[in-house]
Amino acid sequence: MKKDYILPDLNKARNRRNSIERVSFNIDENYNLLGQGKTYYIETHGCQANQRDSETIAGLLDKMGFVASKDENADLFIINTCAVREGAEDKVFGKLGSLKRIKKERKDFVIGLCGCMAQEEKTVERILEKYHQVDLIFGTHNITSLPKLLSDIYEKSKKKAIEVYSKEGEIVEDVPVTRFVGHKAWVNIMYGCDKFCTYCIVPYTRGKERSRLLEDIVKEVEDLKNSGYKEVCLLGQNVNSYGKDLGLGYGFDVLLREVAKTGINRIRFMTSHPRDFNEDMIDAIKDNPNICPYIHLPVQSGSNNILKKMNRKYTIEEYKDLFDRLKAKLPNFAYTTDIIVGFPNESDEDFKGTLDIVDYCEYDNCFTFIYSKRSGTPAANMEDSISREVKEARLQELNKKVAYYANLKNQKYKDQIVEVLVDGPSKKNSAVYSGYTKDNKLVNFTGENIKTGDLVNVKITEVMSFSLNGELINKVD
Ligand code: SAH
Ligand code: SF4
Ligand code: F3S
Repeated sequence: MKKDYILPDLNKARNRRNSIERVSFNIDENYNLLGQGKTYYIETHGCQANQRDSETIAGLLDKMGFVASKDENADLFIINTCAVREGAEDKVFGKLGSLKRIKKERKDFVIGLCGCMAQEEKTVERILEKYHQVDLIFGTHNITSLPKLLSDIYEKSKKKAIEVYSKEGEIVEDVPVTRFVGHKAWVNIMYGCDKFCTYCIVPYTRGKERSRLLEDIVKEVEDLKNSGYKEVCLLGQNVNSYGKDLGLGYGFDVLLREVAKTGINRIRFMTSHPRDFNEDMIDAIKDNPNICPYIHLPVQSGSNNILKKMNRKYTIEEYKDLFDRLKAKLPNFAYTTDIIVGFPNESDEDFKGTLDIVDYCEYDNCFTFIYSKRSGTPAANMEDSISREVKEARLQELNKKVAYYANLKNQKYKDQIVEVLVDGPSKKNSAVYSGYTKDNKLVNFTGENIKTGDLVNVKITEVMSFSLNGELINKVD
């Protein structure tokens, strides 16, 4: 049975030898009617790369005649998974458990699993052994095989369809996309990661670092602007490495300048890697007011000992130097970071270094995580004598500091007028709208005649650590 499947192999996924293929996608017409009369529901976990992938999956399904459903009890349920920490994986296994009930009631309910967990052999083995309700598994490199895999299930009555390639990956252009929102868009500028931080699974699940061509990216942003989009977020695991693999002599600075020329209102980018952030990029950001004043610059740890073990490829002195140069040229920007506590054998002194870097940078916000062992990564083999209790206490101490600076940084907005791009009614209260400022502050505000996608001026009346409250002043456009 198993030989029918193409299963993942993390060892192969480490491979970085082959060159990258660029292909243009064309859906086979035979699949155009496959989804007629059927509905689908996609649940997305993980980062922006996954959210953008789900929009591609939706685009393919729409092309095949499936119809999106608001109800998860659809004909086809696809769960797009994240493998970055154990907690993320547990959520997916929990969900698969609850979907089993629907499957029992409806034999024709098809469950598909894709994303980063699909790239891990242990995970796929566990699913094949214990989660028989899953009918379809496809990897991050196999999204465009979805029509064929669904045809195996629906037309050839295969019990299971599984295809996961473990390879460097390719660049596929012209794949259909159904964007989930109409005012801000994710734009991939590159895929994969070659940094191999020792704790991280991403280079294995997403393949080699590979950049899209500048002209394809700019064209996509132009098209988005022409269809009314106000904001794009340029996506890559390390946007500052953009273009290195192309060997064309230009990098992220040139891309930023070209994207800025499209005149779209707001340009964001993530994630920045401290190692490749150079002066030309800082200047490109400074010169273009439509590039948002917000930089997410993961530090991960404030200790050189730990940074080395993490293979982050910079020292804390280099990080501080970059931070100082950014602040000097981009003084009114918001800065955020990612931090891991409890990396194997992190000492009290190492952790003190992490607290110190937060004091030094006074971040607007930090995303903090307890280290989670990822099977197949080098750190998974490192000895660790630090207890869970110590790690949790450190996380709490760190989070207190993070909240303190987040609140401090937000104080300057009191009574100020800020520009907000409206995401829609707030999740908690439909009489309140929410959206983000250019420097990525979440604003909840009251007002009349407001639509999703409006750019509005809001007066801030109340300041909290992780959001601002206010009232509408006027529309900008
Ligand atoms: N490419 C980005 C982010 C990738 S994953 C970068 O290099 O910064 C997002 C965040 O998850 C990371 O920044 C890191 O802080 C966290 N993370 C990754 N692997 C982890 C692990 N094994 N345990 C805990 N946190 C992890
Ligand atoms: Fe993971 Fe490091 Fe790559 Fe970020 S740079 S995706 S943390 S390996
Ligand atoms: Fe998770 Fe994969 Fe993104 S592991 S963070 S969904 S690249």
